[in-house]
Amino acid sequence: KYQKMYYMPPKVTYDWVSKDAIDKAPIWCSVDLRDGNQALIEPMSLEEKLEFFDLLVDIGFKEIEVGFPAASETEFMFMRALIEQNHIPEDVTIQVLTQARDHIIRRTFEAIKGAPHAVVHVYNSTSLAQREQVFKKNMAQVKEIAIKGAKLLKDLAEKTDGNFTFEYSPESFSGTEMEYALEVCNAVIDIWEPNESNKCIINLPTTVENAMPHTFATQLEYMHKNLNSRENIILSIHPHNDRGTGVATAELGMLAGADRIEGTLFGNGERTGNVDIITLALNMFSQGVNPGLDFSNMSYIREKYERLTRMHVYERQPYAGDLVFTAFSGSHQDAIAKGMTYREERGEEKWTVPYLPIDPQDIGRRYDSDVIRINSQSGKGGVSYILKQSYGINVPEKMREEVGYLVKDVSDKAHKELTPALVYQIFSENYVNT
Ligand code: KIV
Ligand code: ZN
Repeated sequence: KYQKMYYMPPKVTYDWVSKDAIDKAPIWCSVDLRDGNQALIEPMSLEEKLEFFDLLVDIGFKEIEVGFPAASETEFMFMRALIEQNHIPEDVTIQVLTQARDHIIRRTFEAIKGAPHAVVHVYNSTSLAQREQVFKKNMAQVKEIAIKGAKLLKDLAEKTDGNFTFEYSPESFSGTEMEYALEVCNAVIDIWEPNESNKCIINLPTTVENAMPHTFATQLEYMHKNLNSRENIILSIHPHNDRGTGVATAELGMLAGADRIEGTLFGNGERTGNVDIITLALNMFSQGVNPGLDFSNMSYIREKYERLTRMHVYERQPYAGDLVFTAFSGSHQDAIAKGMTYREERGEEKWTVPYLPIDPQDIGRRYDSDVIRINSQSGKGGVSYILKQSYGINVPEKMREEVGYLVKDVSDKAHKELTPALVYQIFSENYVNT
């Protein structure tokens, strides 16, 4: 039954890891408006893209891939609207995607006319599967597509006003023979001749994530160590999430030498999505590294994202889901309540509360409604905590067990979660004025 042969990841020697910890934020590039948008059932309208763009700027993105202007009229017009309405803050660089094809590159340059600066991102697919099945071209011919694209980009940029950074992606990099991927990227670099003041970006995608994260990290480290003019290259990665390990891939990629990450909010994107930048950034934050992006108002970000993309943020989505800071079970509630009291009593700066990886308040979540919620799994600690937090009632230690059982029994019989108001009602019916 399970004998079909699938893609076999390249054999790797597990000798990488340039670093053993992530000590600074990468350059972030949001691809929400391109990779994210192209995967939506109903892509965003021009107005919706503008609103999403503003959200990305508010969060603090300095590089935003805004679309594939040659792909559709809306995409083209969005580009024009951004430029003609002076909508791009000075410190933000927009990025546009183009295939390495003559007329598409030319149309892309028409779309970005008047932009003071932009990243022009050109790609062609390099994996064996794509070469053989899609393009029916050999290695030399596929390399030639990249070379021609790189030359045309350079040529058109010289004839167009503005400051342009070039980016090249060997699409399907993760399925490409490493020596060949290196050869193609180096050929592109040799054409662009980057230098200290004019760096170029080499972006390595796991277009389809088909290997474990350490395999990708090893591939990346090979490129990191062998790319021509490495000091003048911004080495970028673009993880997708087919195996559900996009975040791990990105984190190991950073350890192995990546300088820049392309991803999206909440991991929207083709199939299982692009890597989720929110998770990556808040993972860094939880380990004391400033991610340089602001997620302190998560519910605002989530509301805009859900409305504009018509997607839903899963209840257990790291950091952002409705239930990710919630404890229903008695032992977890007890530990959290004790941890919070311990912290309050000592005025502790450091966050060490059990079961809560970060302080929910740091991303705009609330202790009273997000953390301890009462159902039949709950216990005395949780019930007492709710009465104290919401109603200022200090249940004496000796009464806690009895009150806990009383409340959870009601929930058990009703098969329902109890709001703080209901908890209070049960408590007062049984104990107040008796
Ligand atoms: O996933 C991918 O390979 C892409 C490229 C176009 C960069 O989105
Ligand atoms: Zn992609």
